[in-house]
Amino acid sequence: ATDGATAAGQPKIPFGAAVRDGPLQDDEAYRQALVQYCQLVVGEGGLKWVDLRPDRSSFDFHQPDRLLAFARQNGMKMRGHTLAWYAAMPEWTNAITSAAEAERELTTHIETVVGRYRGEIPSWDVVNEPLSDDSSASVGLRDSVWAAALGERYVDIALRTAHAVDPRAQLVINDYGLEAATEKARARRLSLLDLVRRLRDRGTPLDAVGFQAHLPGDLDIDTDGVSQLVADLKSMDIEVLVTELDVIDDTLPAEIIERDAIVARRVQDLLGAILSVTQPTAILTWGLTDRYTWVPIWYKRGDGKPNRPLPLTDTFEPKPMMQAIQAVTGG
Ligand code: G3I
Repeated sequence: ATDGATAAGQPKIPFGAAVRDGPLQDDEAYRQALVQYCQLVVGEGGLKWVDLRPDRSSFDFHQPDRLLAFARQNGMKMRGHTLAWYAAMPEWTNAITSAAEAERELTTHIETVVGRYRGEIPSWDVVNEPLSDDSSASVGLRDSVWAAALGERYVDIALRTAHAVDPRAQLVINDYGLEAATEKARARRLSLLDLVRRLRDRGTPLDAVGFQAHLPGDLDIDTDGVSQLVADLKSMDIEVLVTELDVIDDTLPAEIIERDAIVARRVQDLLGAILSVTQPTAILTWGLTDRYTWVPIWYKRGDGKPNRPLPLTDTFEPKPMMQAIQAVTGG
């Protein structure tokens, strides 16, 4: 694998995938596929509070350390996911209610975690999914331990703390539901842009927005809407990356060739909408192979057939989705 450098013959946009800890340890074919296709990895778990923080006074780094070792052995870079999120929080954090306590816990966590990987993890999803999920036009702040205690200020605290610890790290706000041609996605795009504007006005450090891009297979990409958001972000010197690309194919046709073609087209449309404005700093899929994907947990197909949301089949064969990505990355 390479580090995505633009040296002759190397991908011009780094490509990577979310890595599942269990198979990383016991599936040799999976490890080989990661090395063959990826210049980047990110832990599907491991750097979430629920994995890292068994209790208020301890940190358990064994999973991210294992992934970082794998990345370094194979010339890959590792992204950090994620420092502040509403989900995957251990029970004990429900007791965090005052603003002072929330600020202390969030700051200590970020100082410890980003400090441990300073210079090793060059890009962090500092804040994951800050936008509420309600479909009202005015999309507000998602409820969380952090938002309840600190309001929007938790976003500034998280970003400022991460920047203070590792000034060279790319600081990312990562969210989903930004890509489809729906009123809800349009409202989310506008709300995310407003949040970024407020952060800029407050002088809070932020380098990029992560489009998770869990694409609904049955909905068109709002290519103009995505391009407009990317252009507006670029006008504020904010980069973009695709952080969790897969295609939710539960309602797509059963016929594999037709289904895979639709999946590839959704990916082409999204990447084309971004590239029409700028080059994403990275493209990562949320998993590499249909053998290990979160999608069927939430979007099981009614016909009982396996989902096919990712670039490789469950036997690690590249699909049209992988070709669509490689046409863009140069990989
Ligand atoms: O490791 C435990 C295991 O010990 C236990 O027996 C089992 C049953 O409870 O749970 C296992 O933990 C699960 C973990 O994945 C590891 O497999 C959690 O229950 C489960 O909630 C967790 O789901 C992850 C989810 O985020 C929540 O953290 C998914 O794998 C992961 O794909 C998903 O990823 C999210 C991104 O972080 C943010 N964007 C959306 C994306 C998809 O939901």
